[in-house]
Amino acid sequence: MATENTITVRRMNFEINADMDKYWFNGNPLISAFFYALSATFPDGERFFIDTVRYYQKDVEDPVLKQQIRAFIGQEAHHGKAHEDFNEALEAKGFPMAVIAAKAKGLLDLAKERLSPQRQLAITVALEHVTATLAEHALRHPDLLEQMDPTFRDMIVWHAVEEIEHKSVAFDVFRERVGNEYLRRRVMFMTLIMFFGRVMYFQKLILRADNRKATWREWWQAMKFFWGKDGLVRESLIHFAKAFKKGFHPSDIDQQPLVNDWQQRYPEIAALQTN
Ligand SMILES: [Fe+2]
Ligand SMILES: [Fe+2]
Repeated sequence: MATENTITVRRMNFEINADMDKYWFNGNPLISAFFYALSATFPDGERFFIDTVRYYQKDVEDPVLKQQIRAFIGQEAHHGKAHEDFNEALEAKGFPMAVIAAKAKGLLDLAKERLSPQRQLAITVALEHVTATLAEHALRHPDLLEQMDPTFRDMIVWHAVEEIEHKSVAFDVFRERVGNEYLRRRVMFMTLIMFFGRVMYFQKLILRADNRKATWREWWQAMKFFWGKDGLVRESLIHFAKAFKKGFHPSDIDQQPLVNDWQQRYPEIAALQTN
């Protein structure tokens, strides 16, 4: 039976400041472009996650999981909408967000057309592990959050908390309805390569649109951000490796302490909740 952790659907009111810096991460184009590339893929990506889980929704027998699926759908629907608003603001600053989103959607449509529901759900399981891993990285390093534009930071914190809350839902649906470890791990391997390959390409498109050359200092900051000792790549690779183990479950990685007291740590973000 699925573990009974709370998944809360929160509606948030983010006021996007149109005058904000063009590069939301400390003015650094290389790191900001990474977040923009992710943000461009989220609305359609999250709709894909919803669809792949919804396909199995009526067959799921575990009553706790049934309830969690509804909350998962609610959370992902709100994330998609919030990212759409941010993507529009970035488009207005001259970044090709719609073009990138269309490219990402093209790939997802292809997956829907060509792949079995089992494989599609396995893609969601893999990407949910990616989002929970990135979420942990953001919440574990408040110093990084402080370098972001405040509104973007608020949205990242909210999204990160909810990704960790619902990280096991698609996995548990896969385990109950498909239960093929070999398929899960094989699809995860392909998905990780495809996803990060595309994100790097989208990052390049964003940087090219502005034609702004990064300075040495910005390159150095980006190297530290991605490849440093506590960098995003290093920390993520450790979590990705864990998920390749046979019998892995997302709850094997304890991220609960990061979300338990988030309202106390970020009362100003919690105050943006409208429901
Ligand atoms: Fe999400
Ligand atoms: Fe998610």
